[in-house]
Amino acid sequence: MKREKFGSRLGFILISAGCAIGLGNVWRFPYITGQYGGAAFVLIYLCCLVLLGLPIMIMEFSVGRAAGCSIARAFERLEPLGTKWHWYKWFGIAGNYLLMMFYTTIGGWLLIYLFKMAAGSFEGMDTARIQGEFSDLMGQPVLMTVFMVAVVVMCFGVVSLGLQKGVEGITKIMMVLLLALLIILAVRAVTLPGAGAGLEFYLLPDFGKMKEAGIMEVVSAAMGQSFFTLSLGIGAMEIFGSYIDKKRALPGEAVCITILDTSVALISGLIIFPASFAFGVNPDSGPNLIFITLPNIFNSMAGGRLWGAIFFLCMFFAAASTIIAVFENIIAFAMDLTGCSRRKAVVINLIAIIVLSMPCVLGYNVLSGFAPLGEGSAILDLEDFIVSNNLLPLGSLVYVLFCTTRYGWGWKNFLKEANTGQGPKFPKWVRLYVTIVVPIIVLFLFIQGYWSKFAS
Ligand code: ALA
Repeated sequence: MKREKFGSRLGFILISAGCAIGLGNVWRFPYITGQYGGAAFVLIYLCCLVLLGLPIMIMEFSVGRAAGCSIARAFERLEPLGTKWHWYKWFGIAGNYLLMMFYTTIGGWLLIYLFKMAAGSFEGMDTARIQGEFSDLMGQPVLMTVFMVAVVVMCFGVVSLGLQKGVEGITKIMMVLLLALLIILAVRAVTLPGAGAGLEFYLLPDFGKMKEAGIMEVVSAAMGQSFFTLSLGIGAMEIFGSYIDKKRALPGEAVCITILDTSVALISGLIIFPASFAFGVNPDSGPNLIFITLPNIFNSMAGGRLWGAIFFLCMFFAAASTIIAVFENIIAFAMDLTGCSRRKAVVINLIAIIVLSMPCVLGYNVLSGFAPLGEGSAILDLEDFIVSNNLLPLGSLVYVLFCTTRYGWGWKNFLKEANTGQGPKFPKWVRLYVTIVVPIIVLFLFIQGYWSKFAS
């Protein structure tokens, strides 16, 4: 059977950006930025994106394009005879499943909040009541399951239509709508009376707050965020490299995708910080930001019901674009590995993902006594920790070593693939940096992440 390809270059860029743009941009980025002191964190984050994220994304695309398949077979095709790089496939695909095991639940919460916001359910509620709404939701496993299943069915529905008709066609529309709506929301937020203080917090670096948290902790969080936001290290980007032709060199494409991803994160900050300050709410409220802090803000805002509904629609689009992209990878993996049809892969994985998502749902109610990472933590935190602090950085390390050393695919092969086609090329002179410095930084920050999580 002939393998499908993207219909257009724009399709490739928007789908890859859709995979990158997700909760990491619209939720995690603003709250980590709030916790670590605003603009000072943003600066370090941008450095991590350019110095670490970008080269690794180019490597993932190169592996995908050269092999012409998902990670199920890619390393086998490119590795030197007798080596075991292909064992990575299990590690990589585990990362995709684990990511979806909590992402689908949050997707369900977003859908519920979208409906509630649009129906005006929060109108007239005070802060305590809004907080109570979220706790009530956590105590309703059936409702959470229904919406999680709805999200899984919708997203697999899109993937079942095929690469061009389903994934490309629908994600393209969602991405364009997402960008347009975010810009409208940002204009509304920055023109609120009192928004200036929020802009100041967001755009003027405060290194004092960063020192308080510890510079190394902040840098390690920034690296984690940059890998998470670009979906690196688990082959989720590799698959889209396998669907493109050789007309364009890969560095330019990766730059476009990173710019789109970063724009969405930065615009989300332009919505959240001015709005928080305008209504006197603390923006460093962690994960509560989206489900408690923001509904409160919308409640106090003129026309808040409409703005709130638009906001949760954006959140949902961002989450759904990632879920669809990762599902596409999971399906391609199954098809490449077993030779089964897309339909069969969809049916089996639809059931598998629903079952695998249940621990996350139940972690807030039936299994709430289980706090895997210490008091107050839930199963979602454990799953997020395994993916974000382990699989993404270590998987990224595998790509770097595979593409730069002669024990793997090797520098020459990588460079040739990355630079085939028109457009900006991967510079040869950075070889020493990517071969030696990048692995050391990634490893160091990986260990530092553990240190700051468990030793302090
Ligand atoms: N890249 C995805 C996100 O940012 C996982 O949410």
